[in-house]
Amino acid sequence: MHPKELVTSTFRQRFGKEPAFVALAPGRVNILGEHVDFNDGFVLPAAIDRATYIAFAPANSERSTLVAADFGEQASFTLASIPTKTNADGAPLAEWAYYPAGVAWALTEADLEVRAIDAVFASNVPQGSGLSSSASIEMAFAVAWQTLSAVEGSAVEGSAVDGAGWVLPPMQRALLGQKAENKYVGVNCGIMDQFASACGVSDKLLLLDCRSLEWQTLPVPEDVAIVIADTSVRRKLTDGEYNKRRQACEDAVKILSQHLPNVRALRDVSVDDFNRLSNQLPGVVEKRARHVVEEIERSRRAIPLLEQGKIREFGQIMNECHTSLRDLYEVSIPELNVMVEIAQSLPGCHGARLTGAGFGGCTANLVEKSVAEAFAAELARQYEAKTGLKPEIYICKASDGARLV
Ligand code: GLA
Repeated sequence: MHPKELVTSTFRQRFGKEPAFVALAPGRVNILGEHVDFNDGFVLPAAIDRATYIAFAPANSERSTLVAADFGEQASFTLASIPTKTNADGAPLAEWAYYPAGVAWALTEADLEVRAIDAVFASNVPQGSGLSSSASIEMAFAVAWQTLSAVEGSAVEGSAVDGAGWVLPPMQRALLGQKAENKYVGVNCGIMDQFASACGVSDKLLLLDCRSLEWQTLPVPEDVAIVIADTSVRRKLTDGEYNKRRQACEDAVKILSQHLPNVRALRDVSVDDFNRLSNQLPGVVEKRARHVVEEIERSRRAIPLLEQGKIREFGQIMNECHTSLRDLYEVSIPELNVMVEIAQSLPGCHGARLTGAGFGGCTANLVEKSVAEAFAAELARQYEAKTGLKPEIYICKASDGARLV
């Protein structure tokens, strides 16, 4: 069942009323600029046509009741129980509930009203696949709470929005989601995922400067399909490997800024300076930071190529990015490497690399549109033959960001 139907029907069953609203927030695929968002670099994601859907209405009590339809589980919290990560009855919150509870926490911290909510959510963004399922949950709930802030009265079918609530621009909602993830969930992620989910634009890539937060759209090149290939291997970022790498980048900044006083982030280090000073860095720190410095340089080279329609050269840079994530940043796994190697050997593939944090999940491929279906079929066949795993491969459409539907 499509998640939109699933959340609506589950809402009716569970709460015995119609949902007042349904919202969605998409996942994202990142094309270039990996593990650079928290180093003030440039990223090039797109929101995808897979999303978290949420059916919701104001609750009749102080208590928010959240149903995760995909797991058949429920959590219920009050504003008082949120900071302690507990349900209203004092039992620990399930991990999936950290994301909505974290958003409620961040909104409260920002002095924005969080109405008690009855909600059911479900997603067709596969969890742990590098497509930002957690950011899409956060952004769906941010839209929901924003919507409820403007609802008159209590839970009735067709509740009217009176316009008197708080309204945050999408980028501000993204920043709140990032804060929820950093300070509540405990993953020190950057802004890319929440940004893409909040700000996505149909048929466009989103080029974000993670320092100034200025962004623009670039068209998905004509004749090019974005193909997402899911290795079906799952990962979890809460287990610490992501945070360790971010820490290594911060360690590198500390050391390099002793020699280069203007360095605030790895964004400020040129490749030449890095090469000159790299012997000052401990081995692992050097590798992690080299990936970041070179990746930021790659994005500077790549964007003009994309704008000029030089897709083959742009794709080459995506391939270099994968090698660097594999050998320097060390966030790839054998299945991702197999998926990328096969893709790169197939006709019509301009570039292929792991997308998102790594450790499992998906690859992003830019492929000639006319052969995209054949590419997907052959990639699936060869991947399964080599690994014994059944991948899911699909041609994705860049989509609009989080919104009511
Ligand atoms: C995860 C994080 C993002 C970003 C990517 C890697 O998706 O949530 O902020 O760091 O990894 O580019």
